Amino acid sequence: MLSSYLAILLLLGSAAAQNVTFQNSSQTRLRVDTGTYGPEIEEVHYYYDQWPIGIAVASDGRLFTSYTRGEYRYTLGVVANRTSERPYPSLDLNLPLNQLNTSYNGIPFGSANSTGFISVQALYITTKTSSRPETLWVLDTGRPTIYNSQMEPSMPYAQPGGPKVVAISLSNNTVYQTFTFPAGVHYPDSYLNDLRFDFHSNLSGTSGKGIAYLVDSSNEGRPGFIMLDLGTGDSWRRLTQDASVLRGMNDVPSYQGHPFYFRQKGSPIQWQLEGLDGIQLSTDGERLYYSPLSTNYLYSIPTQNLRERDTNKLAEVQAHANVSSHGQRGGNGNGFEGDTNGLIYQLMPEHNAVYYFDPNDGLTHGFVRDPRIIWPDGGSIGADGYLYLNINQLPYQPDWNYGVDTREHPGAILRCKLPNGERRSPVSTSESDSEGGDS
Ligand SMILES: *[C@@H]1O[C@H](CO)[C@@H](O)[C@H](O)[C@H]1NC(C)=O
Ligand SMILES: *[C@@H]1O[C@H](CO)[C@@H](O)[C@H](O)[C@H]1NC(C)=O
Ligand SMILES: *[C@@H]1O[C@H](CO)[C@@H](O)[C@H](O)[C@H]1NC(C)=O
Ligand SMILES: *[C@@H]1O[C@H](CO)[C@@H](O)[C@H](O)[C@H]1NC(C)=O
Ligand SMILES: *[C@@H]1O[C@H](CO)[C@@H](O)[C@H](O)[C@H]1NC(C)=O
Ligand SMILES: *[C@@H]1O[C@H](CO)[C@@H](O)[C@H](O)[C@H]1NC(C)=O
Ligand SMILES: *[C@@H]1O[C@H](CO)[C@@H](O)[C@H](O)[C@H]1NC(C)=O
Ligand SMILES: *[C@@H]1O[C@H](CO)[C@@H](O)[C@H](O)[C@H]1NC(C)=O
Repeated sequence: MLSSYLAILLLLGSAAAQNVTFQNSSQTRLRVDTGTYGPEIEEVHYYYDQWPIGIAVASDGRLFTSYTRGEYRYTLGVVANRTSERPYPSLDLNLPLNQLNTSYNGIPFGSANSTGFISVQALYITTKTSSRPETLWVLDTGRPTIYNSQMEPSMPYAQPGGPKVVAISLSNNTVYQTFTFPAGVHYPDSYLNDLRFDFHSNLSGTSGKGIAYLVDSSNEGRPGFIMLDLGTGDSWRRLTQDASVLRGMNDVPSYQGHPFYFRQKGSPIQWQLEGLDGIQLSTDGERLYYSPLSTNYLYSIPTQNLRERDTNKLAEVQAHANVSSHGQRGGNGNGFEGDTNGLIYQLMPEHNAVYYFDPNDGLTHGFVRDPRIIWPDGGSIGADGYLYLNINQLPYQPDWNYGVDTREHPGAILRCKLPNGERRSPVSTSESDSEGGDS
């Protein structure tokens, strides 16, 4: 029915080119949404092989990208030329596909291998400090997607060792530190999703060697924050299942004008299940902005409350009481970034756009919008003052569409210049009272 209707319209359209049809409104006298605003978008890189997730831009311009597994050969890569990437730092660091998972008493688990990469979700680069080289921080979830004989996907539980934070020196391209988590901090059903750093030496609740704030976005429903002391390797949780980190219940977002339900082969139709997702520190490191993927709300909390340890019996109650709601922002939000001006950029998959929250007026504003931004998954501001975006068409992946892949190659890295010569937020680069060490 629909296709014959379209065929007739197309026929009419070609027979009478000047007539305006709903497929082609170029001659209309009516106002039309162009789908664009903001700074010029440039196409930097095309993905023709593996579909990407995370992105990080080094000071020398190298573009690093991660790919969750799955069936991909490698999970951490570097852009090699305009149309291809290669494993970084080497293919050897990737666990072979047949070692990604195991099982005990019939229950599947992810690998416990703490040195090999299992499935890397997020990347973050911190600039050189007096005690660290410029570092690529790699967040391995330890939870690959596995497929049964009917090609129905599922995600095994994590084992301690698998989920990890790995530090790679961008000077010598070598892993120089690895942190893993006990089962009481990273639950079997946790899912590490993003990370930010603060190297100030005077941070309460820490050894003074810096801290990482990690997102547990757990689709199974126990999202929250995990903190990692980079000096001692100690880790702890805060705001687990706080109202502000939970998924938006039964949320139906729209992508490209289509309502979206989660259609996973072998399961009934569901909703987007992911909780806490985007995070970004204020420029002084004292406040962490965050939101779940599937709500329209932006929140923040003083980082002091996240650093408070369980020895303070009121730590959780005080953290909850100190959560600020910045209200709605006009859509669901994915990854965040931040600039020197304190703006909190938020990737907005429903709107093919990037918005920013301005703490100065307390409002969310549009920054850039373009029809090519089909699911912006990660953003990273380079030393060149450009915001780089990974575009991966995620809602069209087979795992969300009954096994049918309607993504169209290539995926892309797009970039656009920040306003007013703004640069990347400096918080992760500074140590104690000095801003020194920027390369
Ligand atoms: C536009 O469509 C109308 C109605 O079908 C038709 O009468 C007319 O000739 C068309 N105009 C042009 C310029 O083809
Ligand atoms: C839309 O219509 C204009 C004017 O009739 C024509 O020049 C253009 O090629 C059409 N675009 C498409 C995509 O058909
Ligand atoms: C990019 O690298 C790939 C793999 O090495 C190669 O096949 C391709 O020709 C290169 N493309 C360009 C434009 O250099
Ligand atoms: C990994 O998971 C797949 C899919 O469920 C299963 O066929 C395979 O046996 C698992 N591997 C191990 C070592 O348990
Ligand atoms: C972990 O994985 C790496 C990369 O595949 C491998 O070199 C190493 O031997 C593995 N370790 C164990 C204990 O299996
Ligand atoms: C690489 O750099 C790191 C960090 O500076 C250092 O700890 C490590 O020893 C270096 N490794 C090699 C092989 O040079
Ligand atoms: C906010 O956090 C601070 C520092 O932990 C704490 O002293 C204060 O009691 C908290 N506020 C509330 C309302 O709990
Ligand atoms: C830590 O040091 C920085 C830089 O000197 C300062 O701005 C900040 O207020 C200090 N933070 C705390 C919690 O004392």
